Amino acid sequence: MNALNDSSIAVVGPGAIGTAVAVALHEVGRTPLLCGRTHRDRLTLEDGDRLVTVSVPVWVNPAQVGRTVDLVFLAVKATQLEASAAWLAALCGPDTVVCVLQNGVEQLERVALHAPRARVVPTVVWFPAQARPNGSVRLRGDMRLSLPNTPEAGVVAEALQGSRCRVELSASFTALAWRKLLQNAAAGLMALTHRRSGMFSRSDIAELALAYLGECLAVARAEGAELGDEVLREILDKFQASPADMGTSILTDREAGRPLEWDVRNGIIARRGRARGIPTPISDILVPLLAAASDGPG
Ligand SMILES: NC(=O)c1ccc[n+]([C@@H]2O[C@H](COP(=O)([O-])OP(=O)(O)OC[C@H]3O[C@@H](n4cnc5c(N)ncnc54)[C@H](OP(=O)(O)O)[C@@H]3O)[C@@H](O)[C@H]2O)c1
Repeated sequence: MNALNDSSIAVVGPGAIGTAVAVALHEVGRTPLLCGRTHRDRLTLEDGDRLVTVSVPVWVNPAQVGRTVDLVFLAVKATQLEASAAWLAALCGPDTVVCVLQNGVEQLERVALHAPRARVVPTVVWFPAQARPNGSVRLRGDMRLSLPNTPEAGVVAEALQGSRCRVELSASFTALAWRKLLQNAAAGLMALTHRRSGMFSRSDIAELALAYLGECLAVARAEGAELGDEVLREILDKFQASPADMGTSILTDREAGRPLEWDVRNGIIARRGRARGIPTPISDILVPLLAAASDGPG
């Protein structure tokens, strides 16, 4: 298959999440064009004992594509968005739908800056996946995405119809997206301690996490997310019930010395809080620590 295969779907950023979605599409006969930064001959997904391989190359030069596609799944990290803009420019026409598989609640405005002609749709990615040192990706849960109930999201649902990736179109997408953001914000504590979910069994960490989540919830509600107080406990319970060795992508990045998605996952609470006059004393300590851990100097 060459760069100009007739696929009308592309995955930009075939890492942990991008590989899982590419495999899901491949399994139902809709193998996407793979657009990345590092050339590979194939993608491999480990699902328990099963290995699924997509034997198509990862293309690394946007200039080689030469045509737009109907649907782009964008799965680069938020920190890699600018660097991947050339892919969006090459792949997107006025009818192209860009499904943003990233954490955060600012996907629409951030991606639209780089794909002004496209129809951008935000997503909540609910499943964990982990890139392995051998280049394969380990899926650690059933694949599920939430999207707002819009015509653009319908294009995404159709593309993934019949696949292992469940797509839910939600009328309360804002609340879902902020709920996931709260979960991500609390997970950021793991990047500071270099510890995995097991650390939430400590009473001092549990207390800090609940206080921080309360601060995040106040900002989320001010932003229009209808979330009840129970989400705080539910999120903590989820960390406490997870396998002690369950990490988070921001910890994986920290351990690999890569830039962290601190701004879209944690910085946003302080930024939006400031804009709305909501005090965020915990964020005011956590965010500079995460930013410095990510970007230095030193
Ligand atoms: N992993 C999870 O469990 C999980 C769960 C929910 C949400 N998310 C979110 O999903 C998003 C993707 O995360 P991930 O864990 O899949 O990240 P990842 O494994 O690091 O994958 C990112 C991919 O993008 C590629 N890339 C980097 N710069 C690029 C560029 N300029 N052009 C094209 N491709 C480029 C990377 O290539 P290289 O191979 O060269 O690095 C890599 O293949 C993040 O926002 C993350 O927070 C992740």
